[in-house]
Amino acid sequence: MSRRTAARPLRGTVRVPGDKSISHRALLLAALADGRSRVDGVNPGADVAATAAAVRAVGATVASVDSDAVVEVEGCGGRGLQEPVAVVDAGNSGSTIRMGLGVFARVDGLTVVTGDASLRARPMLRVVAPLRRMGASIDGRCRGDRAPLSVRGGRLRGADVQLDVASAQVKSALLLAALGAEGTTSVAEPRRSRDHTERMLRAAGVDVRVAGTTVALDGPQPVPALDRRVPGDVSAAMFLAVAAAIVPGSHLTIEAVGLNPTRAAALDVLRSMGARVDVEISGDEGGEPVGDVTVEASELRGVDVGPDLVPSLVDEIPALAIAASRADGVTRFHGASELRVKESDRIAALVGGLRALGADAEELPDGLVVRGPAELGDGVVDSRGDHRIAMAFAVAGVASPQRIRVTRWDCVETSFPGFLDVVAAAQGRS
Ligand code: S3P
Repeated sequence: MSRRTAARPLRGTVRVPGDKSISHRALLLAALADGRSRVDGVNPGADVAATAAAVRAVGATVASVDSDAVVEVEGCGGRGLQEPVAVVDAGNSGSTIRMGLGVFARVDGLTVVTGDASLRARPMLRVVAPLRRMGASIDGRCRGDRAPLSVRGGRLRGADVQLDVASAQVKSALLLAALGAEGTTSVAEPRRSRDHTERMLRAAGVDVRVAGTTVALDGPQPVPALDRRVPGDVSAAMFLAVAAAIVPGSHLTIEAVGLNPTRAAALDVLRSMGARVDVEISGDEGGEPVGDVTVEASELRGVDVGPDLVPSLVDEIPALAIAASRADGVTRFHGASELRVKESDRIAALVGGLRALGADAEELPDGLVVRGPAELGDGVVDSRGDHRIAMAFAVAGVASPQRIRVTRWDCVETSFPGFLDVVAAAQGRS
């Protein structure tokens, strides 16, 4: 076992990349808009680049204005969406393919979309079936449940849709399609998923109605050009927040983070585990609350995270599982079977990784149980090519005095290029 020096605390102030969820939506909506949109702080990762390529494929012009991720988009509102001349590649990005389908369904012509091996294994019928009901003709592998998918779109009509799983990607796809459909579309979810699309539409002046867990809009409605800033990504911030919570002596502020309550529940969970988490909302960007998050290290205890909370922290469970391994007692995540169909089977990836490092973790059909505290030891963790698994175990490495290797590290580029530089800066190593 190679022994390193004690973990270095994270201190000072850092920033994270622009919110990935909001960046995808801003590009897609800008592509549907009339005229030139300007979006500042777009996430620089490969997933959002795949969405930029997808909206270019349907006729929008997307120009990177400078290296600070200010992007200008000339929308198709006036002239209409165009039939792509080549297959659209969504890469590893579920948001690109699922939300993109809402736009492809509006293209008067054929769109063929695919992705990498991980994306081609993920379920698509949840978005394909309602878009078919709205009038799009969609086919693909497994009767349309797996990419590659072909979409023949055009004239759409509104529909009342009841989703079986809470999914902001599906809800957003249907709302984007509904903007071009004749009549009213309503989308009802079993639980409320993140509401960035609703907020963005409202900020753009589109009439969206929200009642409980149902969202409705009347189509067709034009979309005016956008001019907005994207706040920092709370999901990216969560890896740093957990690192600060578990490395003794840490006191870290993450600045200008999006704090939408349908996204930020993981910060509350970290607080309920005993971490000192201070959230200060300082403003609003396009209807999204923005502020600073300060985390100080402290002793943690296990908690129970159930189905009511899962939609508002689903992407943060990998980071929270690392916190759980350092916490005293049992932490149980349940009602989270969606984790099995993310960029990897995150339940298997987390339990496999935690066990490889000597922690006590167990799979549930719909979640996992972690019994702490464990000193995470020497070991190799398979990221399975999943950025959130890779960053979660990198946080374990930051907190461990021993060496943890994470395989297929490149996948971090999908959402957080420069992650290790930000960690190094917080540790005073840059
Ligand atoms: C996202 C919604 C979630 C989330 C994904 C991003 C979004 O997926 O896991 O990383 O931006 O709408 P689901 O829609 O499958 O819940």
